[in-house]
Amino acid sequence: MHVVSPQIRQQMQDASWIRRMFDAGLELKQRVGADKVFDFSLGNPDVPPPAAAAAVLRGLADRAVSPMGLGYCPNAGLPSVRATLARKISAEQQAAVEARHVLLTCGAAGGLVTFFRAVLEAGDEVLCPAPYFVEYGAYAGHFGGVLRTVPTKAPGFALDVAALDEAIGPRTRVVVVNSPNNPTGGIYDAATLRALGEVLARRNAGRERPIFLVSDEPYRALAYDGATVPPVLPVSPFTVVVGSFSKSLSLAGERVGYLAANPAMPDVQLLVDALTMTNRTLGFVNAPVLGQRLVEQLVDETVDVAIYDRRRHAMAAALRGAGIRFAMPQGAFYFFPEAPGGDDRRFVELLLEENVLAVPGRGFGFPGHFRLTFCVDEQVIARAAPAFARAAAKAR
Ligand SMILES: Cc1ncc(COP(=O)(O)O)c(C=O)c1O
Repeated sequence: MHVVSPQIRQQMQDASWIRRMFDAGLELKQRVGADKVFDFSLGNPDVPPPAAAAAVLRGLADRAVSPMGLGYCPNAGLPSVRATLARKISAEQQAAVEARHVLLTCGAAGGLVTFFRAVLEAGDEVLCPAPYFVEYGAYAGHFGGVLRTVPTKAPGFALDVAALDEAIGPRTRVVVVNSPNNPTGGIYDAATLRALGEVLARRNAGRERPIFLVSDEPYRALAYDGATVPPVLPVSPFTVVVGSFSKSLSLAGERVGYLAANPAMPDVQLLVDALTMTNRTLGFVNAPVLGQRLVEQLVDETVDVAIYDRRRHAMAAALRGAGIRFAMPQGAFYFFPEAPGGDDRRFVELLLEENVLAVPGRGFGFPGHFRLTFCVDEQVIARAAPAFARAAAKAR
């Protein structure tokens, strides 16, 4: 008897690495106590939202109990919120984005699914650099899309533009880039993005169904050492930006994100109308209204990024002390170091023996490395340092 579709059964198997680590972590926490486990496997932002959120929420509570205060809103989002985000996105993207180009979504995840539903046909390919956020495969697969990955280059997991160019074929419909990156913490530089834009311009010439560039950037606000995340809209007219407030405001459970389509895109309004429709008919209907009103008033705020930065340094010190090689993350809250001994699965098992939870790089389409998150207190990271050193010594 088959209660689950073959496609979803396959997705469940493909996602098994992160699930396996999650299950192993649960078992370990039950056995030794949660306070004895160093859990660097989950990217759940734990830095509190900005203090201003409390007053804003109290104000919203009074308005919420008015008629329609919590009712449906337009499928594309509240008009004033779209306008506020258009101003923010215009500044970040150096483009004249208007409210009509912006759609409120259920997180960046909801935005990606909404976009794929609107543009993909069965057999279309979605290209993305590896390592990558594994959910892309499932998101595209729901609509018959096929994910193809192209490895990044050393040093620092840079985009291999020539390899992406070569991987583009007649069925390529979307190129997805994610910067700051999950799992590497890398930020793609402006010159590389421009080079990618030139490839897309050449490949899109005379093409009936354009190749879109999707910039998935929920970590834009988390950048360190004064790094800025270059704009992507100027790179290609067929660019769509996907973002959210899950990380910038630690609102991941509230599911507020957005899509912004390039005003320079031919037929941009048709695309936004299509996205409005797919956002509705996928069952999202509209992004949560309380969350929309909350982000409207907190649009210029971020969580205390200095907290993440201190953890980044603590993790770097722990890894250095263990002789583990890594590229220093420039943004987001992940490290993607080399697995000592070369086998990521074995090294993650050795870490598990030390009560440290991490995810093997093969779970992100890039074996030989492993992912650590720093959504964990600085002290916990420091206390884990000897465990990293012991596991690394065993691996060698
Ligand atoms: C690269 C990337 N894209 C998208 C998402 C989805 O984020 P959300 O839907 O919470 O905005 C995540 C979440 O971890 C992510 O890491």
